[in-house]
Amino acid sequence: MKRLTAIIALAAAAAACSSPKTGDVPVYLDPARSVEERVADALPRLTTEEKVALTHAQSKFSSRGVPRLGIPEVWCTDGPHGIRPEVLWDEWDQAGWTNDSCTAFPALSCLAATWDRDMALLFGRSIGQEARYRKKDILLGPGVNICRTPLNGRNFEYMGEDPFLAGQMVVPYVTGVQENGVAACVKHFAVNNQEVRRTATSSNLDDRTLYEIYLPAFEAAVRKGGAWAIMGSYNLYNGQFNCHNKRLLLDILKGEWGFDGVVVSDWGGCRDDDEAIVNGLDMEFGTWTNGLTGAASDGYGNYHLANPYLQRLADGRATTKELDDKATRVLRTIFRTSMASEPHFGSFNSPEHYAAARKIAAAGTVLLQNNGVLPLRVPDGGKLVVIGENAVKKMVVGGGSSSLKTNYEIAPLEALQEAFPGANVVWERGYVGDTSTSYNKVDTGQDLSESRSASQLLADALKAVEGADAVVFIGGLNKSEGQDNEGTDRSDTILPYGQGEVIEAIAAAVPSLVVVNISGSPVSMPWAPKVGAIVQGWYGGSETGHALADVLTGAVNPSGKLPFTLPAALSDGPLKTERQYPGIREEGKEWWQEYYDEGVFVGYRWYDTKGIPVCFPFGHGLSYTTFEYAAEKLSKAAAACSGSYPVASDALDKVVASVSLSVKNTGSVDGAEVVQLYVAPPAGGVERPAKELRGFEKVFVEAGKAASVSIDVPVRAFTRFDEASHSWVVDPGEWKVLVGSSSADIRWEGTINVK
Ligand code: GLC
Repeated sequence: MKRLTAIIALAAAAAACSSPKTGDVPVYLDPARSVEERVADALPRLTTEEKVALTHAQSKFSSRGVPRLGIPEVWCTDGPHGIRPEVLWDEWDQAGWTNDSCTAFPALSCLAATWDRDMALLFGRSIGQEARYRKKDILLGPGVNICRTPLNGRNFEYMGEDPFLAGQMVVPYVTGVQENGVAACVKHFAVNNQEVRRTATSSNLDDRTLYEIYLPAFEAAVRKGGAWAIMGSYNLYNGQFNCHNKRLLLDILKGEWGFDGVVVSDWGGCRDDDEAIVNGLDMEFGTWTNGLTGAASDGYGNYHLANPYLQRLADGRATTKELDDKATRVLRTIFRTSMASEPHFGSFNSPEHYAAARKIAAAGTVLLQNNGVLPLRVPDGGKLVVIGENAVKKMVVGGGSSSLKTNYEIAPLEALQEAFPGANVVWERGYVGDTSTSYNKVDTGQDLSESRSASQLLADALKAVEGADAVVFIGGLNKSEGQDNEGTDRSDTILPYGQGEVIEAIAAAVPSLVVVNISGSPVSMPWAPKVGAIVQGWYGGSETGHALADVLTGAVNPSGKLPFTLPAALSDGPLKTERQYPGIREEGKEWWQEYYDEGVFVGYRWYDTKGIPVCFPFGHGLSYTTFEYAAEKLSKAAAACSGSYPVASDALDKVVASVSLSVKNTGSVDGAEVVQLYVAPPAGGVERPAKELRGFEKVFVEAGKAASVSIDVPVRAFTRFDEASHSWVVDPGEWKVLVGSSSADIRWEGTINVK
């Protein structure tokens, strides 16, 4: 017996020597442990200085880890459309690396226009792989601020005017990014709906407007998408800077929504030592360290959450309570990303990513009008005339922090030349817009200089169109100041550079003119009745030209829908006063003040309810085929409909009805249709929008076939936010459920009696 015992003892000793007991590996380094276990083990190992160092930048886009414990630095990168080129340690300018040219994906206004959750997942997955490959831990995107004014310079980075659409599209994007061990940092939180004086204006609004319009996309990202990071915005909300706004960050985000990730400041958005400590900011970046005016070199110790914080901890003005919460959240982010138990490696510039960019850009392209002139038909030996600066201008570079250095960018003209190899493809500029080609020392290498006068340019275009088999005008906006550009807003919704006149002149000679408007925000089109077809194109990234050519030639049947209204004129919109936009000065108030007096009546909620005609409505988009909706059935669990108000928050997503219908493709080509579901409130009671989007499904249908669609309707669809009770309430009465191909093309309606 003794011998056996001895053998067992020896074996045990040998085993112990060969593989260290899990006790030898500290828990925080043990990938077998949960994130929370690793955080709990790491936190007490940190000194106060190490905890404070986690909460602020050490360079333009990174913050310290804990070198002593082998906990890595945290690296952030812009942006929502692709991975920003590496910048110098403390500069915005690119560092001139030769391995950081990325895949440029489409702008998020294009993604929104796909109305396709699968496209959002594909987008997030692809960009997350590129971030991981570039060893970035926090992706500074997506942006989901609502298009309150068509003039906002950053509408192109966001997902339109409807909170439900933005909320549905942001969730898969976040999921796709984060499955790569990269934190999505949803921005800019919150009510950051303009660029004019963005660091000095307080957005003032009531709770109903805040909760019904400006929070839902962020709430979806956090509560359904599980976003690991949120970026505070530059502006103020109700008088307090948003990077340390108690109401937004503590009461709502971390309180009501239970957010367990990190709040990251916008770059330079942190403005106060004490508020930064107590109001929920976790990571401070980009602070202008010499008195909040110009950037001093280095100066990271001068950050609000650096030496001033250490001083307050030392003299007792601050406790470690907030510090431990900040450090916990930063450590949690590190264990979710760079130190994730399951290692991720990502991929960069893969054919799959360029294919994804092309697919998303094509799926987001919106056919607004077509008198039969599309798809383009240009016979071999025929003549295709392309007019407009946006046919050639490369636009991945520019526009602000979302600007990228990409491996390649195919402009529309080049793609059309490829698509019609047997034709004579002629280009005329038609007008001069923006001749700049660089941003932060990244340059497209194009020469867009022009010596001809406006009249000469037009004369040359009119001459070129003689004898053409097809003429396509490709214009719109660009990424320069005063257009789709961070830091500035536009001044009107009509096309700049005299494009309207050029379009009308050409259309007079060529009634079948095809107009492609490339923009990231709403454009008014008074010339629409005079042209043959209109396509809303977007900043499509590396494959923008191929994607547009795919649609114009019919290789891809367009299926995009507008994520925002195209108004007939800016003055038709809800923002009538300086007080509403861009804000006013008020006696005794240090910052500009802006009042969201229009309340929830934003976008189609305004035009529809007020009966104001628009150029093209929210949700509008045609196809090269036609669809018929048939055999609708509105099944409802009546009992659940009798929810008395206020509705408990966990009941909000309870399905109380579902609409099932069949969509028949009655044309000759396969295509996809976005079936939209709106609700219309009973008459009387609190003033509400005439209809509100509450559901949508994109369905692919082969020519001649039919597909069934079912859309569930939760209790939430029938609620409004009641400020007095601070809760969602259901208004009883007879509600209409509207199903349509756009907000203005309702094909069927049913009623639900909410008791
Ligand atoms: C910018 C933008 C923000 C960006 C950040 C870093 O000012 O507002 O979207 O992520 O700073 O470039």
